[in-house]
Amino acid sequence: MLPKEENELVTRVGPGTPMGELMRKYWLPALLSWELPSPDCPPIRLKLLGEQLVAFRDTNGNVGVIDEFCAHRRASLWLGRNEEGGLRCVFHGWKYDVTGQCVDQMNEPESFKDKIKLASYATSERGGVIWTYMGRGTPPPPPDFEYTRVSERHREVNRVWQESNWLQALEGGLDTSHAPILHRAMKAGAGITMDTAFVRGGAPSLEVDITDYGYRYAGVRPLVEDQQYVRGYHFVMPFTQIRPSQNAGRGQERTVISGHHWVPIDDENCMVWNWDYSYGSEELSESERGGGGNGGGNGPQYVDYANEFRAKGNPRNNWLIDREMQRTVNFTGIRGINAQDRAVQESMGPIVDRSLEHLGPADKAIIAMRRLMLEAIKVVEDGGTPRGVAASYYDLRAYEKVLPRTLPWRDVLDPEMYQKGATASRLT
Ligand code: FES
Ligand SMILES: [Fe+2]
Repeated sequence: MLPKEENELVTRVGPGTPMGELMRKYWLPALLSWELPSPDCPPIRLKLLGEQLVAFRDTNGNVGVIDEFCAHRRASLWLGRNEEGGLRCVFHGWKYDVTGQCVDQMNEPESFKDKIKLASYATSERGGVIWTYMGRGTPPPPPDFEYTRVSERHREVNRVWQESNWLQALEGGLDTSHAPILHRAMKAGAGITMDTAFVRGGAPSLEVDITDYGYRYAGVRPLVEDQQYVRGYHFVMPFTQIRPSQNAGRGQERTVISGHHWVPIDDENCMVWNWDYSYGSEELSESERGGGGNGGGNGPQYVDYANEFRAKGNPRNNWLIDREMQRTVNFTGIRGINAQDRAVQESMGPIVDRSLEHLGPADKAIIAMRRLMLEAIKVVEDGGTPRGVAASYYDLRAYEKVLPRTLPWRDVLDPEMYQKGATASRLT
């Protein structure tokens, strides 16, 4: 349960709001690099943290993220011509470079371009993603997750629009207890099947270790014969989860890790970023690289790329639910694991009223995240640096394993969950 005032505090992200100020301390994934494939290609419209922006790649290949609306009379620069080192408004020909500086005014006999500058944000391109920093001052260390460092053939990144506030999407992702229920499948290939440790295991106990980047946590599920199934994750402030992917019907030996970023578009919409990568020598398969990884529900089969990555199943068509399929094939009657996540999270309405909920021990990770978020809002208000800004998350991995119940899972999983070993210095 979260009182109404706190619910408002942690969900609203527009300029000047406390949560909006916190969000503006971090690099945000904005676009996939392939959306701006070449110098002077068409610009892309973009909304982040409630701000309407336009992104373009100039003649030199530099990416600009600037205010969408022309400083003259506010026409959209998305209509603009991207030419010779800047984006030119088609209404009266004012032109802007990647820093938002006006560099030409076609309709003025005496130019005052030097006095005109649009809001613009720093960008960084890594891991096939264009990131932007919407805060003031010097940007923090670059967003350097391990998936951004592997080769293109070892990585898949895609994105999909979700019609809900970012926080309920993040909570849905952090929540391990739902996965073998919501995503359960009676038939192979339709979700998480009954033969997995995920489904065979009992209800999970959650264990959360707070760290300087957010927390590391595990869902510990009892199995028969004194075994336990432990699924270890990380939450990196403010909106990233790293999770193991080895069990997705592929056997334990693969070195594939998955994750998400849940990035606020505005208060009632968010962009769900999905990524998978292999840190071993094995590359991802062609289908995984085409959006088919991450459990399914993403990629062009499910998402209309040409319509700002909106999902084909959405509240207006009841997420394409098929009741016959729900009886015989999987728990939901909805195809695609991440499509199932979107359905339940959007079904709560744009901003869920957390004063009406009833949380239990299975929601421990969600409760811990909310505490960290409220703490971080305060840290920023006091002029400090919140968790997850410093570079301490760069070497995180996720791991899962079946092991004897007598073995402490931290001892077994830790060496696999951090590239550089020791966690002690990061626990707080
Ligand atoms: S509105 Fe853009 S140049 Fe006039
Ligand atoms: Fe899920």
